[in-house]
Amino acid sequence: MTDSPLSTRELYDRFVIPTYGRFDLQLVRGEGCAVWDESGRRYLDFGAGIAVTSVGHGHPRVVSVMREQLGKLVHTSNLYYTRPQALLAELLVRLVVPDSDVEGRGKAFFCNSGAEANEALYKLARKFGNEGQSPAPRHAAGELRESLPYRREIITMLGSFHGRTLGGISATGQEKVKKGFEPMVEGFVHVPFNDGPELLAAVQAPGTVAILLEPVQGEGGVNVASPEFLRQARGLCDQHGLLLMFDEVQCGLGRTGDWCGWKSILGTDEVLPDAVSWAKGIAGGFPLGAIWVSSRPVRLKNGASIPLCDLLGPGTHGTTFGGTPLVCAGALEVLSVIEDEGLLENARVLGVYAREALEGLRSPLIREVRGLGLMLAFELATDFAERAGLDGRRPASLFLVDALHQEGLLTVPSGAQAVRWLPPLNVSRAEIDEAAAIVGRVLARLESRAEE
Ligand SMILES: Cc1ncc(COP(=O)(O)O)c(C=O)c1O
Repeated sequence: MTDSPLSTRELYDRFVIPTYGRFDLQLVRGEGCAVWDESGRRYLDFGAGIAVTSVGHGHPRVVSVMREQLGKLVHTSNLYYTRPQALLAELLVRLVVPDSDVEGRGKAFFCNSGAEANEALYKLARKFGNEGQSPAPRHAAGELRESLPYRREIITMLGSFHGRTLGGISATGQEKVKKGFEPMVEGFVHVPFNDGPELLAAVQAPGTVAILLEPVQGEGGVNVASPEFLRQARGLCDQHGLLLMFDEVQCGLGRTGDWCGWKSILGTDEVLPDAVSWAKGIAGGFPLGAIWVSSRPVRLKNGASIPLCDLLGPGTHGTTFGGTPLVCAGALEVLSVIEDEGLLENARVLGVYAREALEGLRSPLIREVRGLGLMLAFELATDFAERAGLDGRRPASLFLVDALHQEGLLTVPSGAQAVRWLPPLNVSRAEIDEAAAIVGRVLARLESRAEE
């Protein structure tokens, strides 16, 4: 690798397009739940690359499998068949539909990121709405009205985040990501999260084709869907012939203590969506996105019936890198480690432990701790900026994340007022104690500053 006389920071300032507000840390190495910077300083990693390094940095089993696959076959394109992709597809279907016989219970598609996985969901919904028969919609009062030749509108939630592609920012229910990039892709409407009456009103529109939601909103501040809202969404989709699609990019594959975030919320298998997207933790840090699509039958306009998971047929969608043998071998090993090391249970039990550790700080600077499993956020007091003596130019969350860095803890801001804990799923009690002690120390210092 070539080197340079410039520092890493100087190289970024000169040569990297400044799309990110980065923290002033230059990281070089990771092991388990810790990372080290260029000066050799250790940090406890409670961000895990924003919920990505799900089994920690450099897990020996993942390293060994990927090293072997690296020497065997990295890439072939999707013109051919490769066994790791086939096995991973079977595993993902099994995680959504845990029956012993999963054949015919849906299929997977592979891409490279969360935004891309969601793009596949939007295209699935478009095709379903354009080529599927539109059931005659009903008014709220129950009477039938004329059906449309096609349906294109996807309902998403306010406060959601679905990625940074043009489709992703159009789907996202936050104005700040859209600003400056208008016009948006048409066909998305947003309703308030967990608001049953608003959802009910929105599905009445005859052009509605799908509902897309994060069972636990991540970027929007770690907001958990209520069980009633998930049940209602399923019921409305059944009633109106819509697709129910879950964005599990951040909350899926173990983070909440179950393979499926929505099952953690409901505690049962009672709700089965029609499609799910994943990315982030799926391959422990290697770029991979995926979707699962159910096999429920779709009646097409020409009268034929096909499984939903075969609607995106040959030539309709694709990507060069999606699902390479290298990344799929890595993902298979990451998901096996989660299973073999009991990390779903760890996420459940230590999620409660971590929440209690934060609540136990009893800091007046923390207003609330919320989340599910190891997807937690603590909301800062409304007067945090004032109490901490900030001049109001920097959001409270960024200020605190910076202060925690200085004490050796990486966390992730969530909006202006909340800070997320998203440690690897194999985090230990001792590491949670260490992280909580750092948060406690930094907050106590800010409290005493306020009292001076
Ligand atoms: C719920 C959710 N969906 C989609 C995305 C986009 O994923 P990616 O950044 O891999 O494109 C994110 C990223 O934060 C996310 O949290």
